[in-house]
Amino acid sequence: MVTMVVNGQRHVVEAEPDTPLLYVLRDELGLNAAKYGCGLGQCGACTVMVDGEAVFSCVTPILLTEGRQVTTLEGLGTVEAPGPMQRAFIEEQAAQCGYCIPGMMMRAQALLARNPRASEEEIRAQLQTNLCRCGTHARILRAVRRAAGLMQTADATPAGGSVVR
Ligand code: FES
Repeated sequence: MVTMVVNGQRHVVEAEPDTPLLYVLRDELGLNAAKYGCGLGQCGACTVMVDGEAVFSCVTPILLTEGRQVTTLEGLGTVEAPGPMQRAFIEEQAAQCGYCIPGMMMRAQALLARNPRASEEEIRAQLQTNLCRCGTHARILRAVRRAAGLMQTADATPAGGSVVR
């Protein structure tokens, strides 16, 4: 049994401690934004944040999330009230098939939460571990730059998520 806080809500999870976080998020908590891609920590589709750091949830045992803050894309905003990262990706139409995009947003969110003025090089370096097979990289980079701008405006949701602080 593991206790974790996901998007500000406490959950007691009955799964085995070595169960990948991705499986618990999707299968037990119904949070389906994080995607299963490779299952090997090599594509980034499953990226979420744990205590503000981007992690591959497919290779993160839930034991390592005991008592920690997990943030998924669902924690950054809603369909009705998207957070700045989500708004930026919508406004830039930064998706083709879209499978990689939740992971891209979470990895970018982790960067901008600690460094809202990240340089182009820092953004590119941060996203290097996340793959996009459609070749949408230029729009993804534009979206992350736009998100940084939105986060710095007064009405933007604070970086790091609208729910978990
Ligand atoms: Fe986790 Fe590919 S599914 S890195």
